[in-house]
Amino acid sequence: MSEQESDQTSRRGKTMSESDFEAVVLAAGQGTRMKSALPKVLHAIAGRPMVAWPIEAARQAGAKGVVVVVGHGREAVMEAVDARFETGVRSAVQEEQNGTGHALRCALPALEGFEGTVVIIYGDVPLMPASALTALLAARGSRPLALVTARIDDATGYGRILRDDEGRVVGIREHRDCSDSELAIDEMNPGIYAVDAAFLRAGLSRLEADNDQGELYLTDLVAMAAEEGGVGDVSWDIADLVGINDRWQLAMADDAMRTRILEGLARSGVTVRDPRSTWVGGDCEVGPDATLESGVVLRGKTVVGEGARIDVGCVLTDVTVAAGAWLKPYTVATESVIGEGAQTGPFSHLRPASVLGPDARVGNFVEMKKTTLGRGSKANHLAYLGDGVVGEGVNIGAGTIFCNYDGFRKHVTTLEDGAFIGSDSQLIAPVTVGAGAYVATGTTVTRDVPADALAVSRPRQKNKEGYASRLKARLKARS
Ligand code: UD1
Ligand code: CA
Repeated sequence: MSEQESDQTSRRGKTMSESDFEAVVLAAGQGTRMKSALPKVLHAIAGRPMVAWPIEAARQAGAKGVVVVVGHGREAVMEAVDARFETGVRSAVQEEQNGTGHALRCALPALEGFEGTVVIIYGDVPLMPASALTALLAARGSRPLALVTARIDDATGYGRILRDDEGRVVGIREHRDCSDSELAIDEMNPGIYAVDAAFLRAGLSRLEADNDQGELYLTDLVAMAAEEGGVGDVSWDIADLVGINDRWQLAMADDAMRTRILEGLARSGVTVRDPRSTWVGGDCEVGPDATLESGVVLRGKTVVGEGARIDVGCVLTDVTVAAGAWLKPYTVATESVIGEGAQTGPFSHLRPASVLGPDARVGNFVEMKKTTLGRGSKANHLAYLGDGVVGEGVNIGAGTIFCNYDGFRKHVTTLEDGAFIGSDSQLIAPVTVGAGAYVATGTTVTRDVPADALAVSRPRQKNKEGYASRLKARLKARS
């Protein structure tokens, strides 16, 4: 992705200019109000760690690189970030959290020699779109600093935007430092800035902790910029800029992101039957003309192909569903692949490494694990298929069990093309049933079955004429 971007950049022959920017994402705080052992910025929004969203937005807006300032839980935070972004994201450590200005000071070594614009984003603002950054960069022009502002009904806790008589931004006052008249200001600071790198370095060196918290406030740069060239500003919808401080705000933001993702899918040609009950993670893909019925949950890197039907209550985690497949209600699948035109459910359970070939089918109460079903093979009722390799056109009868585990190790059951497994059979692995062979109902298969053979291992049936009434009479006499 980033290789591609820089590729395009060089092809356009762009050199260092105003549009060249580095982003700094502040993520060192503890997030005490989350009441969590997990660092705040690792709590998930649409299945991605919160901090991944501003990083992604910065990259989408064209950031050359992103510096994440980490402190609390920094190993965990950087591990999560590195797992997602292979290149273009580096970290800076803020050992003690002495304020947002101090956090930026800690980021400066990572920006050494950089002369363009530094875009600063707080790591707990996951809903901010890349377009807000683009607008912000435009608003800066050649001024030392620009910021995003938003109107809000209740600005409690936020920094207030101070403007002069002509409406120019002249500073930011933190809530706890506000006078009564400043508290009445309904324009707040969401914490998104674009700053000239040279101005940033000079300004940070002049910050002082003369405020209620005794911290270095990044927001004090705004008053300095107002005196030294002016402040650009862009106002934006508060709905995109909410900061996450507690779990209810987290839930609300997660819900807003869910709606946004579903709207995007619907507008790209996916039928989303019941948006209120459907949840699709930020890393999932759904092709055109696919249908998501109510209660569907798509997690991880699930991919749903064109025209596939994901019926009511399906829960898919890291699953690939090919075009035209039909997952009937309450299919639960993890790390599995469902082939073109294949069908599952209702009530199928596909555990990791289950693979359904094209047009294969598994039905109700069939559990699969690490098993491949070839093209057109079927297990329609009540089966356990673990550690299996099943060819094409195989029929697996109701109640079939692959006995894969001997208490110590797992063993493979192989069913070659066209084999027929009668109902209520047990296959004691390791075992192979040859092509076209027939396993009679109720058979316990302990040895390989040659191709085209019949395996049967059940006692021959005896019928004793008239015995039932004699038996009943005897039992009655005893009672
Ligand atoms: C800050 C702003 C305030 C703004 C609000 C928006 C300052 C001084 N105030 O206040 O004007 O309205 O955000 O939510 O900037 N962080 C660090 N290191 C630190 C302190 C903070 O990395 O030493 C990070 C936090 O992890 C967080 C972000 O900076 O991602 C904001 O910190 P927070 O403590 O929430 O700032 P607020 O007091 O809310
Ligand atoms: Ca905050």
